[in-house]
Amino acid sequence: MNQPQHRVAVITGAASGIGRGLAERAAAEGLQLVLADRDGEALERLAAQLREQGAQVLAQVTDVADAAQVERLRDAAVQRFGAVDLLFNNAGVMQTGSCWELSDAQWQRALAVNLGGVINGVRAFLPLLLAQGRPAHVVNTASLAGLLNSPFMAAYNVTKQAVVSLSESLHYEMAALQTQVGVSVLCPGPVISEIMTSDQGRGAGDELNRLLDGQIRQGMSAAELAERVFAAIAEKRFWILPHKGFKPALRARLQSVLEERNPQFAPFDPQGDAHVA
Ligand SMILES: NC(=O)c1ccc[n+]([C@@H]2O[C@H](COP(=O)([O-])OP(=O)(O)OC[C@H]3O[C@@H](n4cnc5c(N)ncnc54)[C@H](O)[C@@H]3O)[C@@H](O)[C@H]2O)c1
Repeated sequence: MNQPQHRVAVITGAASGIGRGLAERAAAEGLQLVLADRDGEALERLAAQLREQGAQVLAQVTDVADAAQVERLRDAAVQRFGAVDLLFNNAGVMQTGSCWELSDAQWQRALAVNLGGVINGVRAFLPLLLAQGRPAHVVNTASLAGLLNSPFMAAYNVTKQAVVSLSESLHYEMAALQTQVGVSVLCPGPVISEIMTSDQGRGAGDELNRLLDGQIRQGMSAAELAERVFAAIAEKRFWILPHKGFKPALRARLQSVLEERNPQFAPFDPQGDAHVA
């Protein structure tokens, strides 16, 4: 195995799906792990599995929507391992439904976790990463929904587009300040996970939820995704777009903006050439 490029990785939403894949990959790379999730039992199960494989793991139950809990996560990471080299702001939830029928609670939850969680991660950890004076990298998990809008997913789209925006701003800021902190935004299509079956993934009615769950169940494995993410970090690449099938739709959308034509939603096959690197 190559010498690990980074020493300590913090991963939110680590107990399932994409976060779990990142944690397993980071452990395989020899990183020390700080794993955070709202689901304490699943988190402890993963931590025990990785410790058995020889990894050093700090598992801390954390709700990323709560800034104070994310600050405590940072402090615990520093206390245990002395530094943070990789930060994955990954925790997220799905909410489906038409713009006006999504409940106030659904809107607030999507905003608090998907966007608030990333803001809290950036606010808590960036001062530390900058003060360390050594290379570090932040990966924010957005989605293809951060680049393309679709009906009945407004709450999710809004938060993911905001995560892309925040990440791009942070990337420019790191460059302007000539720091050693790199930034990536992860915009995957379907990846096998529990996002549609967790208790948060409810809303638009069974049909859309079933369709999305079906796409996700046939999606890329979290292990394959993690491999691509670590390759992008090594390349210091901002855009991490593991699925390629969305590109014609993005092109059409950008064209409609440039030509000031009304956008038209056309379903696309996000899997497309998913396995083309
Ligand atoms: N699976 C996909 O197809 C897909 C595609 C694009 C983007 N994403 C994004 O990937 C990220 C991970 O989702 P996933 O698909 O692996 O789903 P998942 O439900 O399998 O895993 C998400 C994890 O985050 C945790 N979590 C939820 N709310 C939290 C909170 N407030 N604080 C801390 N932890 C919390 C959950 O307990 C769970 O363990 C999300 O941001 C999601 O929007 C997923």
